[in-house]
Amino acid sequence: MTDRYAVIGNPIAHSKSPRIHAEFARQTGQDLSYEALLAPLDGFAAAVQAFREQGGRGMNVTVPFKLEAFALARKGDRLSERASLAQAVNTLKCEADGHLYLDNTDGAGLVRDIVHNLGFSLAGKRILLMGAGGAARGVVLPLLQQQPQALVIANRTAGKAFAMASDFAPYGAVAGSGYDDLAGQTFDVVINATSSSLNEELPPLPQGVFAAGALAYDMMYGKDTPFLRFARGQGAARLADGLGMLVEQAAESFFLWRGVRPDTAPVIALLKAP
Ligand code: ATR
Repeated sequence: MTDRYAVIGNPIAHSKSPRIHAEFARQTGQDLSYEALLAPLDGFAAAVQAFREQGGRGMNVTVPFKLEAFALARKGDRLSERASLAQAVNTLKCEADGHLYLDNTDGAGLVRDIVHNLGFSLAGKRILLMGAGGAARGVVLPLLQQQPQALVIANRTAGKAFAMASDFAPYGAVAGSGYDDLAGQTFDVVINATSSSLNEELPPLPQGVFAAGALAYDMMYGKDTPFLRFARGQGAARLADGLGMLVEQAAESFFLWRGVRPDTAPVIALLKAP
């Protein structure tokens, strides 16, 4: 019998995940289906339950339900360390014993895109992560595991950045900051994990934060953002949007479910094609 998977969110119609996973399944010869499920804003848990009762084997969870997915964990379920620290879940695996395994593959996807696809090592580097919402929180542990020299989390509401940095302090060299305090500092990698790009806004970065050879990474994908335009103007050596991260987090989920690692390069190329 074909194993069923789904991505659940609201809205969901434009999700690229069904296409990505269909490609992974074709490429690896895995017998599975993967659909997009629209859950009502007040009906996430019920929709997950219904999917499980219908024999669903796993789900990806997207906006706005990642925090609610984290709260689904019940006695006997297992939560990965990275999901626990992120306080957000993007991957559910329905185990054979009826329990859930809850994970978050977003940060691993980001790191794999930067290190493997872009060939940009993070070890010993100075990283600036902009934002202190769910998107930022989800990637902090995997970034720290790359052993950067420093990870600075900057946020408009600086107190949120300080609080997040203190949560992750046991895991590596991480500090919180406001944007003004970044003046005079330089970074090898600047990652935009704010929602600013959605509104065509630019985080209030001071001039001159890009070190020689720096990478500017916007987690948003599919369009040139004010941040990437700013980075280009500031002389950032490399620019990337979040398409690679999207495909890599999917591959990490696929691996968790199926034990097979798909080849992401052709899928990224397919999604980039006009
Ligand atoms: P998400 O789940 O996408 O992270 P969120 O939890 O609402 O969404 O967080 C949005 C993040 O984007 C916050 O860090 C927010 O900064 P504040 O906490 O100071 O509000 C940040 N953000 C949104 N618009 C921004 C802008 N124009 N400039 C800088 N930061 C912005």
